[in-house]
Amino acid sequence: MNILILGAGGREHTLAWKLHQSPKLTKLLVAPGNAGTAEIAKNIPIGVNDFDGIKRVVLEEAVEMVVVGPEDPLVNGVHDFFLNDIELKHIPVIGPEKAAAELEGSKEFAKKFMMRHNIPTAAYQSFTTENLEEGYTFLDSLKPPYVLKADGLAAGKGVLILDNLEEAKEELRTMLVDAKFGNASATVVIEEFLAGIELSVFVLTDGKGYKVLPTAKDYKRIGEGDAGLNTGGMGAISPVPFADQDFMDKIHQRVVIPTVEGLKKDDLPYKGFIFIGLIKVDNDPFVIEYNVRLGDPETEVVIPRIKNDLVDVFQAVANQTLDSIDLQLDERTATAVMLVSGGYPEAYEKGKEITGYDSLDDSLAFHAGTTLKDGKVVTNGGRVMAITSFGNDFKEALKKSYKNIDKLHFDRMNYRKDIGFDL
Ligand code: AMP
Ligand code: GLY
Repeated sequence: MNILILGAGGREHTLAWKLHQSPKLTKLLVAPGNAGTAEIAKNIPIGVNDFDGIKRVVLEEAVEMVVVGPEDPLVNGVHDFFLNDIELKHIPVIGPEKAAAELEGSKEFAKKFMMRHNIPTAAYQSFTTENLEEGYTFLDSLKPPYVLKADGLAAGKGVLILDNLEEAKEELRTMLVDAKFGNASATVVIEEFLAGIELSVFVLTDGKGYKVLPTAKDYKRIGEGDAGLNTGGMGAISPVPFADQDFMDKIHQRVVIPTVEGLKKDDLPYKGFIFIGLIKVDNDPFVIEYNVRLGDPETEVVIPRIKNDLVDVFQAVANQTLDSIDLQLDERTATAVMLVSGGYPEAYEKGKEITGYDSLDDSLAFHAGTTLKDGKVVTNGGRVMAITSFGNDFKEALKKSYKNIDKLHFDRMNYRKDIGFDL
């Protein structure tokens, strides 16, 4: 089978690495990919939102399946683009159709979905410039901290958590009136603050049945002890040690089943990954957000723990026979530590040569922001590479990742040395 992966990060390198192991794979393409995917697949220099370009590649390279990494093309309707094109409609796309991708594309849509299907989540109201005054009144009625969310996609920056009421009101005004996040903040969701520890659950569905994939926890802040600015993710652990059987049963009954059933009831066509961001309050799960894709760097710990042939699994999604797959998981813990460019998540330089990543001992290097320049692998983004290791527990796994990181080098390389500190 010829497969095209859309995307260029650590998530896509991990998917490529896993698909590459399948005897059913004939040709693997990644658009646009990175230096890591170039080692095992053919990179195609087109963007994930260039649907006409994607069509050209699919026809020229006889692609038989498309796996979508990031949310953007899904929210923009890449799956629908295939279904509506006579030459592409028979080619399966792993990733939901546009209507279902709104679960990530609009926070208000996701909130309404959860309310409709009785899925536990924080109480909320949404506001536009039309009812700004009501927004202030709603903030008056809440206790701090105040949670303000831009409704649309804002590259992970659209959520503000503020301690001060006047500041919250000013931010609400800035988001709505000054379009702080452009069109994404034309509607703002204000919700009740939930205090607890976060984790994510990944589900794969074919629109009929589903499989619950491993849990993971990511570390979003740049600084140790979860301090400083938010990033795309500085590390991840799977499984999450505090998600015991009893808690997982609650997640399954209260969140996973109503989500999959809700998609069916609402006629939201979904063949792909659902990333459910949860918070554990006392001993109960609440949904913070849905993403319509895998997480990054969660993928770098979730996918390596799946023992099945991923081509088989994706074919079952395409054919709606996922129920017949017997999902086999590696019981060990996987951890990923993300190496980032000095300065990230603010300004940073690119083009630094990376050395030592190809001689790791018992760890995997998944490339994120890397590219090839004059035959050398150089940095090409803020998040550069994830170092994944297995262990009997997260401490053992992390020890391997950190030991291997000592062999790696690029100018101004930075990483968090405290992944798992809160567990
Ligand atoms: P989101 O983009 O919705 O995942 O929000 C980004 C981050 O903001 C989450 O990972 C949480 O850490 C935090 N967050 C979002 N909603 C809430 C909430 N209702 N209560 C507490 N923290 C929240
Ligand atoms: N690591 C969080 C995300 O992929 O959205």
